[in-house]
Amino acid sequence: MKVITEISEMRALADGSRKQGRTIGFVPTMGFLHAGHASLMRRARQVCDVVVASIFVNPIQFGPNEDFDRYPRDEAGDRATCEAAGVDVLFMPKAPAMYPDTPSVFVIVEGISDILEGAVRPGHFRGVATVVAKLFNIVKPHQAFFGQKDYQQCAVIRRMVKGLNMDVEVVALPTLREPDGLAMSSRNSYLSPDERRKAAVIYRALSAAEQLAKTGTMQPEVLKNRMQAVVREAKDLEIDYLEIVDPEGLAPLASAQDSMALLIAVRIGRTRLIDNLLLQ
Ligand code: PAJ
Repeated sequence: MKVITEISEMRALADGSRKQGRTIGFVPTMGFLHAGHASLMRRARQVCDVVVASIFVNPIQFGPNEDFDRYPRDEAGDRATCEAAGVDVLFMPKAPAMYPDTPSVFVIVEGISDILEGAVRPGHFRGVATVVAKLFNIVKPHQAFFGQKDYQQCAVIRRMVKGLNMDVEVVALPTLREPDGLAMSSRNSYLSPDERRKAAVIYRALSAAEQLAKTGTMQPEVLKNRMQAVVREAKDLEIDYLEIVDPEGLAPLASAQDSMALLIAVRIGRTRLIDNLLLQ
């Protein structure tokens, strides 16, 4: 596996691969990699000639009171994970190279960036869209792989790609979970053992709604009430939002439809976790 830190070197490798007719698969990450990240890399390995993963903790997608300074890092572990997943190139740009000046050029995906996560984290999706656009311009992937775990992020990236006519195929892949159902996340490392146990209630709530839907109870209000009741079984969890939305536009649903997305964000102590489930 080749490790590249210079933007110019990454561009040259991408240009060279494209000239040889090789397809580039790209997995952007912020590191502290787990099996969820690795599943994206392995998928890219199956379908692309050259697999590039990036690790960049993107300062402009964090709010002033968020966890940028304490975001977990493990460079040695991350290298091993990438290598084991079949990554060819690990791109780790430095912040001063990505943002040499105070950032003044942004990609803004209006509307969808302002609701749900975007309402709680103003500017977050502007930061995500901007860095992903920059990384796409540097890595020049044919296909880019994202996790459904960040459901709204996938929607924002898809809209960006469509809206700016970017020549990249966005592939969204299923959420990998711990044995008790908790979605794997770099931020799970913040949880104390007690908080970690309680966090399992998030997936239990999603599953409870799914069970109800399977038995024919589909009204969003009823599903929401059930989920809220399950989350409240665990003390010390605060719901940031819990919404049942249209899977495409993410507009909240007043009545049931064939396909619905359940989106949830909770706070446990200082940690904020998100999860979702698609009902089809
Ligand atoms: P990060 O949180 O490191 O996630 C990188 C990718 O891994 C994202 O596409 C995310 O959805 C996916 N992922 C995370 N947990 C997963 C799980 N349990 N199962 C499957 N996939 C999972 O998302 C970001 O970084 C950043 O916002 C980024 C897109 C890199 C831009 O900075």
